[in-house]
Amino acid sequence: MILHDVDAVVLVGGQGTRLRPLTLSCAKPLLPTAGVPFLVHLLSRLREAGVRHVVLGTSYLAETFVERFGDGASLGLELEYVSEPEPLGTGGGIRNVARRLRTPDVLVFNGDVLAGTDLVSVVGAHRAAKADVTLHLVRVPDPRAYGCVPTDEVGRVLAFLEKTEDPPSDQINAGCYVFRREVIEAIPADRPVSVERETFPSLLAAGASIRGHVDGSYWRDFGTPFDLVQGSADLVRGLAPSAALPGPAGEALVLAGAAVAPNAVVIGGTTIGAGCVVSEGARLDGALLFDQASVGAGAVVERSVLGVGARVHAGAVVRDSVIGDRAVVGERCELGSGIRIWPDVVLPACGVRFSAGV
Ligand code: GTP
Repeated sequence: MILHDVDAVVLVGGQGTRLRPLTLSCAKPLLPTAGVPFLVHLLSRLREAGVRHVVLGTSYLAETFVERFGDGASLGLELEYVSEPEPLGTGGGIRNVARRLRTPDVLVFNGDVLAGTDLVSVVGAHRAAKADVTLHLVRVPDPRAYGCVPTDEVGRVLAFLEKTEDPPSDQINAGCYVFRREVIEAIPADRPVSVERETFPSLLAAGASIRGHVDGSYWRDFGTPFDLVQGSADLVRGLAPSAALPGPAGEALVLAGAAVAPNAVVIGGTTIGAGCVVSEGARLDGALLFDQASVGAGAVVERSVLGVGARVHAGAVVRDSVIGDRAVVGERCELGSGIRIWPDVVLPACGVRFSAGV
């Protein structure tokens, strides 16, 4: 089975508040991730599975998606866009694209999730069970921060428990669903609806057939700085699945037009964007440098994002932090433990340390 006969919807309308300040100027699904906008990795997975027609549910910075992808031909897809002037939430966003859908079964994705799951199997399981909705579920060591979805021995969903302290199962909602199109059409129109908190629980209460499809493939939600950095490194190292990596998998991805000193150490799935400059003796480990960023001589950048044009000067140390576009980290500054520097902020040269809570 190739999924030519399945439309896909990708929800990309969220504000991405957890990724501020990077998402102040760029929608989360368009943030550069292992050399291309994150969404390109997801769309490449859809195309590989044979999906042809994809509808993007946009809201925040809606026009930037159209500008970036147009009709989708460059990605080998037919792309359409439906924008919400006021955000309608995840369920409302799915309902809002209903009139553009052409197939009886529809794949729906959160636009910030990357998974290695076999989409053909998920759709096959949905059809075999004649389900109304099938959810891709993954097992995680600590399910408390996610939506927990326990199932019975044949995969029937038993409950939807959002972010509970005492989850009865380690299975969580992975942000990928197969819907019968009629189920989408029955979601209330023109008001905000949460698919996780409202649509799924009310379908379950009404006796709908809701299935879970569990697998152990790669899965990551790229919604936090930690996950963006880690996920990007996984893509660069070939641990996360993508047909869109713009180079061979390895310790580092250096985009055209970047200059890296021969004695700089660049490891851990680091990405160096176009026009970046990395000076002698610098050490980059699991770093994500957007275009035009620079790292001075002897500076260290670990598990951190440098926004467009951000500068880390000589001898500075940046760990587990986010440096906004064009911001400057002065010589010998040390940043760690979740520091976020807003765009254009200049930290003068210093010898002191900053860390979260200080
Ligand atoms: P945070 O603010 O950091 O929680 O991020 P977010 O706004 O993206 O929210 P969340 O991660 O919960 O969203 C999951 C997916 O749904 C993401 O791909 C969002 O782009 C998308 N999404 C969230 N809210 C809306 C909405 O109102 N409309 C549409 N079309 N998509 C949405």
